[in-house]
Amino acid sequence: MVGLHPLEPLTAAEVDAAAMLLKTLPEFSAATRIISVMLKEPGKAVIHGGGAADREAEAVLHDNARNQCFHVVLNLTTGTSSAVRYAPAGAQPTMSVDEQVECEAAVIASPEFRAALERHYGAVDPALVMVDIWSAGNYGSEEDRTRRLARPLCFLRSDATDNGYARPLEGIRPVVDLNEMRVLRVEEYGVWPLPPQAGNYAADRVGPLRADIRPLTITQPEGPSFRLTGHQMEWQKWKFVIGFNAREGLTLHHIRYDERSILYRASLTEMVVPYGDPSPQQARKNAFDVGEYGMGMCANSLVLGCDCLGHIEYLDGHLCDSRGGALTIPNAICIHEEDFGILWKHTDRRLPHPPEVRRSRRLVVSSVSTVENYEYGFFWYFYQDGNIQFEIKLTGILSLGATREGEKPLYGAMIAPQLYAPNHQHFFNARLDFDLDGVENTVERVDVVADAAGPENPYANAFRARATPLQTEQEARGHLQLETARSWRIVNPRVKNAVGEPVGYKFLPGDNSFPMASPEAWWRKRAGFVDHHVWVTPYREDERYAAGDYPNQSGGGDGLVKWTAADRAVAETDLVFWYTFGHTHIPRPEDYPVMPTAYIGFLLKPSGFFAENPANDVPPETKKKAGGCCG
Ligand code: CO
Repeated sequence: MVGLHPLEPLTAAEVDAAAMLLKTLPEFSAATRIISVMLKEPGKAVIHGGGAADREAEAVLHDNARNQCFHVVLNLTTGTSSAVRYAPAGAQPTMSVDEQVECEAAVIASPEFRAALERHYGAVDPALVMVDIWSAGNYGSEEDRTRRLARPLCFLRSDATDNGYARPLEGIRPVVDLNEMRVLRVEEYGVWPLPPQAGNYAADRVGPLRADIRPLTITQPEGPSFRLTGHQMEWQKWKFVIGFNAREGLTLHHIRYDERSILYRASLTEMVVPYGDPSPQQARKNAFDVGEYGMGMCANSLVLGCDCLGHIEYLDGHLCDSRGGALTIPNAICIHEEDFGILWKHTDRRLPHPPEVRRSRRLVVSSVSTVENYEYGFFWYFYQDGNIQFEIKLTGILSLGATREGEKPLYGAMIAPQLYAPNHQHFFNARLDFDLDGVENTVERVDVVADAAGPENPYANAFRARATPLQTEQEARGHLQLETARSWRIVNPRVKNAVGEPVGYKFLPGDNSFPMASPEAWWRKRAGFVDHHVWVTPYREDERYAAGDYPNQSGGGDGLVKWTAADRAVAETDLVFWYTFGHTHIPRPEDYPVMPTAYIGFLLKPSGFFAENPANDVPPETKKKAGGCCG
């Protein structure tokens, strides 16, 4: 029997106990919302020492009456709490699911909104309006600084099951004070007719479905090859702990291969989706999905046979609503195995027996979050050869705008009559806390460079990998460079491999972008993490989110930009590697009405961590298939 690992997320009972404890605080009133309750992770030394720790929770709360956010640590073992720590004045925590629902009701009930609706569209049923809470962001106004604000986008369904995103209320922008939960005003930017066509994707509304797909069934008659105990995963030589919280959603902890430490913690820390249309009703669209909405809060309940195939095990997400009521997301995390084609192969023509070939098997740990119109799937893949891959799957429905007949949008693409999708980017930031064979690691930037032709290079063919160990935070800030096939390598200079080199893991970037908006753009001031693809910081327990603790309506300058200004030393130290990756989305008609999945991510590959191919010991497939060749 394996005991509870100290990094396992809070159980439902612990979340409940934490909520009860919060309600006894003198600072707690009827106006207090609980924004999040999550595990307060014990110190690293405790984990690496294999010790036990009290179960602790950290909670973020917001007092609507005082517009004041605060933070408290709860010891669930002793039933005590730390002193409340107040966030800086005006700091806005993540918007809660309750606020999304209440904001929609407040807008639909607002006489001013109803009047605008009638002025623009005549007599329509307000019950068919969809109100998507969008944070107001921060554009330097007094109001942005002093109120908890939303600037929702609204849509009108033609009936209760219609895809309302096909019919944006382009000219109407309510502004809502979420503390008072009332519409402050309704801004109007002109009148656009509703786009004339429906845009539905549900099976019962799409007309004849293709009929030539036969069943594809994954069977694992002896069960899966992984073992999940609580949130502790064992799969072949891999071991790790699966975490989940309201803000980051899925997190991974204490990742080991053959009992050797690789990553202490891996998480998505922030996102920003800036839109590129300057027209006044569109220009303020930018979503910091992690810090404004919470990826865990928005996580889906996954469905067997639809989201994942094969032998699946699920983990529930245990959260609470803003009044402390239990909020469990059943099947929030999916764990399964996939066949992944050929792991390795060689045919030796001189040998009489069939070629040596091995099937690749990967372990998948995934979750999917819906942030109003868009879906983000977060997929961690573990491979038998020591690779770890993170892939984000982007799908769902584009954020759309209406055009007048004959208008062509300059900053987006027409995707249906009188309906367009503005250009935008999706930036993600991942935090990788490496502890490679110990905590003291160094990051090297690796550039492949060609030598000049000359006496030492008479055939002009020479090129080599040039590794630059990164000494300080500012030296470590960097970006992708195709000219030198740039990658990064995390090494432990104190542990040598079989050829006398430091053990290492390579960081291989994938698709990426530079931000298109000027550094003067308001959203960029708040999202300094997009200024560089790679950042390295020394490990600090309280440096967890790339845009700071409170990106919602922030004035900017927090997070990685602020921390790395100190230019701390990062070589041979307990370090954190941060990666920002962006997907530039110039929409297509084929992204409508629902977008086929787009993919972006990165790969970690052992590079001198093992003495040889660690998957050399994977056995061949043993069951011969009729007429097959599996040797
Ligand atoms: Co997109």
